[in-house]
Amino acid sequence: MEKWETRWNENKLRWHKDAIDPLLIKHLGKLHEKDKDDPISTSPKKFFVPLCGKTLDIAYILSLGYHVFAVEGVRKAVDTLNTENNFGLEFHEQDSIFKTLDGKLQIYLGDLFTCPFEKWAPFDYVWDKGSLTAIDEESRQKYKISMQKSVQIPGSNDYHNFKYLLRTVIYDKSKSEGMGPKCVSETDMNDLYGDWTNITLLESVKLPEGHILRRNINIGSVCHENIYLLSPKSINE
Ligand SMILES: C[S@@+](CC[C@H](N)C(=O)[O-])C[C@H]1O[C@@H](n2cnc3c(N)ncnc32)[C@H](O)[C@@H]1O
Repeated sequence: MEKWETRWNENKLRWHKDAIDPLLIKHLGKLHEKDKDDPISTSPKKFFVPLCGKTLDIAYILSLGYHVFAVEGVRKAVDTLNTENNFGLEFHEQDSIFKTLDGKLQIYLGDLFTCPFEKWAPFDYVWDKGSLTAIDEESRQKYKISMQKSVQIPGSNDYHNFKYLLRTVIYDKSKSEGMGPKCVSETDMNDLYGDWTNITLLESVKLPEGHILRRNINIGSVCHENIYLLSPKSINE
């Protein structure tokens, strides 16, 4: 977490965008499709936003009437998110949780890998942008376990009927200098999600030369951003 603390303290936030993610806006409707199959549910759906930073996507998701549970390891990030959005978050030390008065937004302050998900899970939807791609390759199996816990019914190995939007970046690692977001190849996708989710590639966008993300990765060769929709694999699949 130290390297992230340093980035926040030095205000080196090259990943941050002062805009709502256009791919979230475009594909959020894919999550509603599930609600058509579930007309009896009237309680607000809960979104999980791992490694949230100060993303504007949270305010957008809240504005649509969803509840949001996020995780962030750096306090300065949550304080900045709070100030910039006027969320009025209050910190509850006992659970290491920031909460709005109405309880619609909760942010766990701490390491994703040790978050006690059983207290709040399962979530209906996941918005994973700049989260998996921020994780070092050696920690990816731990990441998988955390993401599974976030959608698992506590006390069982069963998954809730979740939908998970995942934004990744894919490029030739041998041509990059190891900076910026980590490449998530098709093989990585299968290793991380293949045994517990159905993976649908919704869109693959080729990034033009000079694109900020390509500059962050420092890569001259082809680079795509992919957006996937994941849903639980049923036992018979
Ligand atoms: C690349 S940034 C992305 C932030 C946000 N998703 C966005 O797209 O703007 C990753 C964020 O995750 C936080 N972070 C990194 N590793 C973490 C961990 N293991 N647990 C909790 N937070 C972590 C960092 O402090 C940083 O704010």
